Order: sequence, then C-alpha cells, then structure tokens
Amino acid sequence: MSNVIFLLSGPNLDELGVREPAVYGDTTLSQHVARFSARSSAAGCTVVHRQSNFEGDLVEAIHEARQDEALAIVINAGALTHYSWSLRDALVNFPGIKIEVHLSNPLAREDFRHVSTLASVVNGSIAGFRALSYDLAFEAVLALRDTSAPSPGVA
Ligand code: DQA
Repeated sequence: MSNVIFLLSGPNLDELGVREPAVYGDTTLSQHVARFSARSSAAGCTVVHRQSNFEGDLVEAIHEARQDEALAIVINAGALTHYSWSLRDALVNFPGIKIEVHLSNPLAREDFRHVSTLASVVNGSIAGFRALSYDLAFEAVLALRDTSAPSPGVA
C-alpha cells in the first residue's frame, strides 16, 4: 500500500470562497487542498486532488485510487452525497481507508441533505467543522492507517 491519499471534491466545491460563505466559510478549495497537502507531506503522505462537477469523473478517480493502491480516499462529494449510488458502488470496491467529509453539518440542514449514500461504505464521516473538517479527516486517515482498521464494504 502506498502513502497516497486521494482527496476528492464534488460539484460546486470549486466555488468555495464565494459560495454561501455563511454556510461554508470563505476559504477557497485551493486553500483547503494546500492545507491538507501540507499536513500530509509533513506525515510522509502525498495528496492527489481531483475536483469535478461531473459524477463520472469522480467515479473514475475512485477507480484510479484503487488501481494505484492508494492508502485512502477522503471525499467531499457535495450534493452527490445525497443521491449518488454510482459513487457508493465505486467506493465499496476501494479496499483502503475511506473518509466522508463535509464543511457544513448536513444533518442540521434541509431534509434532502439528511441522507448519505456514502455513509454505509466509509470508515466514518466528519461534518460541520468547516475548514477543520479536513484537518480531522486527515487525522482519521493517520489513526486508521496505524491501527489497520478494516475497510467497510470490501468482502
Ligand atoms: C457539503 C454539504 C452538501 O450538502 C452540499 O451539497 C455541498 C457541500 C459540505 O461540505 O458541507 O455541496 O458537502
């Protein structure tokens, strides 16, 4: 297994900074990625970041992570979280660490955000801490790496 972490960002996250700052904060996606990458490299990990507004691109990025035998996938799937069965099916087949992350707390928002298709196939979900969510997600990757926790969904 490598030390590569795939950080995946779904639809509209490229608009962070100008997108509903009262909900998501004013940090841009580039700033989140830079911070996540800095923490990762300090711990000897490499980050591959992919952002797309298209579901299939994210499915293919998950396939790529599996083919590359990546250590972990940290995914903020944006609104796809709430209805994408193809992302869920792709994640099932990834044998490494899987962390779902959200800046806001979807459970404290509209009803349609209360469902996550990903929640049952990830090691865990971190939501509601704004920029700190990414820091906590990274800490979760390190902790799970060091305890060799099983990967949900992989037979
Ligand atoms: C989000 C929450 C989702 O409900 C929303 O559609 C997003 C961002 C978050 O990071 O809080 O695009 O994933």
